[in-house]
This record gives sequence, C-alpha cells and structure tokens, in this order.
Amino acid sequence: MSCAGATAARPLWQLCMGPWRPFSACGRKVAARSYSSGMTLDNINRATVDRIIRVDHAGEYGANRIYAGQMAVLGRTSVGPVIQKMWDQEKDHLKKFNELMVTFRVRPTILMPFWNVMGFALGAGTALLGKEGAMACTVAVEESIAHHYNNQIRTLMEEDPEKYQDLLQVIKTFRDEELEHHDIGLNHAAELAPAYTLLKSVIQAGCSAAIYLSERF
Ligand SMILES: [Fe+2]
Ligand SMILES: [Fe+2]
Repeated sequence: MSCAGATAARPLWQLCMGPWRPFSACGRKVAARSYSSGMTLDNINRATVDRIIRVDHAGEYGANRIYAGQMAVLGRTSVGPVIQKMWDQEKDHLKKFNELMVTFRVRPTILMPFWNVMGFALGAGTALLGKEGAMACTVAVEESIAHHYNNQIRTLMEEDPEKYQDLLQVIKTFRDEELEHHDIGLNHAAELAPAYTLLKSVIQAGCSAAIYLSERF
C-alpha cells in the first residue's frame, strides 16, 4: 500500500491521536544496523536487553504523547516554546529507541495504543489545570523516568559495564535530559499546581504501573 493509501486507511483514532510507527515509515523497512559497542545479538542477556529497550521505548513514546497533549492546550501560551523544546528532545529519545528496537529485534509492548491515548489525556488533562498543572505533570513523570533509568544503569553496570557501554551512555544521556525537564517544571511553578502533592503522587503511581506493565507485556 502506498503512503497515501496507508494514510487514508488509518483509523480515525490514529489521525486524531497521532500515528504509531515503531519499525518503519509508511511500509519502508528500516535496515537493522550493527551497534558499535560490544553488544551483539548473540552475546547480550536477551531477557534484560529486551525488557530495557521495550519499556524505555514505551516510556519515551508516552512522554511524546504527554507533551503533545500539553501543546494541544498550552501551545499558544507563554510556556508553549518551553514545552515544545522538551518535546523535541523526547522525539530524539523515541527515535533512538526505535533504532535500538530494530537493531536488537525487540518487539514493542502490546500496550502502545493504550499509552497513546493515556499519554495524550494525561498531558492535556493536566494542562487544563493551567501551566502549573502541566509543569507538575512534567515534574512527576520526569522524576519517575529518571529514577527508572537509574535502576537500569545499575542493572547494566552489574551485568557487564564494558559490553553495555553504548547502551549505558544512551540511558545516562537521556536520564540527564529527563532531570533537566524535571528542573524546568520546578522553575515554572509546578509546585503551585492545585493539589500538587496529591497530583504528583497519583501520576507517579500511574508511571510505576506503566513501567511494570510495559516491561512484561
Ligand atoms: Fe525522554
Ligand atoms: Fe523528558
């Protein structure tokens, strides 16, 4: 099917909520590239690498949907450019995990359509509370993701820091950028959001559940 045909046939929810194209663009197969570090398909701990890449891909996808939801509500306000800049970094994160999925033949979580809708709803819903609500969401999510990345760094360091050197570098770089997003949220009055502490706790419980499910399914 041509690109135009594929677009025409796409369900309405995808047109509204954004496409999900983990492996290819409009049917073009993406060639698997070799990875520059000591990681090969044969020498990695498959279960560990599968779990890490699948959940990180899901997380970065969810983050993209959250920022898309925030931009739909606040894109034309004073914080629009700030949110757009963070979203642009999330696009790079997702692109990287899309590449790693192809290279290491990891399937995406079956929950992707769910994260599509939930991510957008979370971003738009908190943005409807005002810019402080959106920033509170950013603080909650980015803190959870940074904590999650730190856990993965520990796991890979315990397994084999040399073999997983490049993957470790990717995760460390992204972890640092998530922490920058977290600080941007705090610097834009996240703590002034309505019921900040409760809101943050509820969002972080959701993140923990999303991580648990995406690692397993
Ligand atoms: Fe990210
Ligand atoms: Fe982020």
